[in-house]
Amino acid sequence: MTEIVSAAVAADHSTPVLSAKDVTKTFKVAGGSITAVDNVSVDFHAGKVLAVVGESGSGKSTLARMLLRLMPVTSGTITYQGKDVTNLGGSELRRYWRDVQAVFQDPFASFNQFFSVGHMLKRSLRLAELDKGTEDQLIETCLGYVGLKSADAMHKYPHQLSGGQRQRVMIARALMMNPKVLLADEATSMLDASLRVSVLNVLQELRDNLHLTVLFITHDIGQACYLADEVVVMEHGLVVEHGTTDEVIFTPQHDYTKRLLADVPDLQGSLKTRSWEPGAPAHVPPPAKDS
Ligand SMILES: Nc1ncnc2c1ncn2[C@@H]1O[C@H](COP(=O)(O)OP(=O)(O)OP(=O)(O)O)[C@@H](O)[C@H]1O
Ligand SMILES: [Mg+2]
Repeated sequence: MTEIVSAAVAADHSTPVLSAKDVTKTFKVAGGSITAVDNVSVDFHAGKVLAVVGESGSGKSTLARMLLRLMPVTSGTITYQGKDVTNLGGSELRRYWRDVQAVFQDPFASFNQFFSVGHMLKRSLRLAELDKGTEDQLIETCLGYVGLKSADAMHKYPHQLSGGQRQRVMIARALMMNPKVLLADEATSMLDASLRVSVLNVLQELRDNLHLTVLFITHDIGQACYLADEVVVMEHGLVVEHGTTDEVIFTPQHDYTKRLLADVPDLQGSLKTRSWEPGAPAHVPPPAKDS
């Protein structure tokens, strides 16, 4: 795992790790077309968390799918480490998919319920043709990064894990690929409040300890502001606001951002004193590492 740390820290900080430039996605639908993402430009810098926030249907997942190269752009350019990857194919695309990993909303759907955690993680490594000799050590290290003990987790089946633990296993699986970017699309939406905080804290630790670049997609501006260094606000496929988290919280420019902020009671005051936890009532204690 030391390789993961050193590779990420050695990254060139002047160039964004990942960029979308003037990216648009139009879908043909009955009776016409809709523009889900409209001329969006955004840069993702090494070792930073950027949150994309917006209400349902604002185009967040469509942007994510284009960045992940799971869906072609209608127009625009995706750049990774300074290289145009918009039309990448073959082994180069497979290499890109290793570097840019994703975790999604429902970790249960990503598990085969008949596989133990250990079996699933080893299988992922074999499919990626990685580290046959040291797989146990790599798995243990990556589970450790998300606060799980390999001796406890390896023999468990998905139904024996909490939602938060399942999501952490998914993050560990992504980390095994030694990614440069981790994209989390509503990865905490299905978790209850205290588990949500624990997963957000894991993502923060990965940024701080591994210098990982994180793209965090959420409809909840509270979570975005809790976690991110920068926040992008999307409405109807457009970026309507983009700034540092402090700028977005304390000097929002767009009415839509102000409306989203107004839905989170006293976010400004409580973030100032760090007394607020996303979605959690004030009395909830900090979650245990293995919750
Ligand atoms: N394959 C598709 N074909 C047609 N329309 C689509 C397709 N995928 C997404 N859309 C439309 O594009 C718009 C943006 O969808 P998208 O899933 O990106 O929103 P979102 O911000 O991720 O929403 P949510 O918070 O509900 O996940 C929506 O109007 C959606 O109906
Ligand atoms: Mg979505």
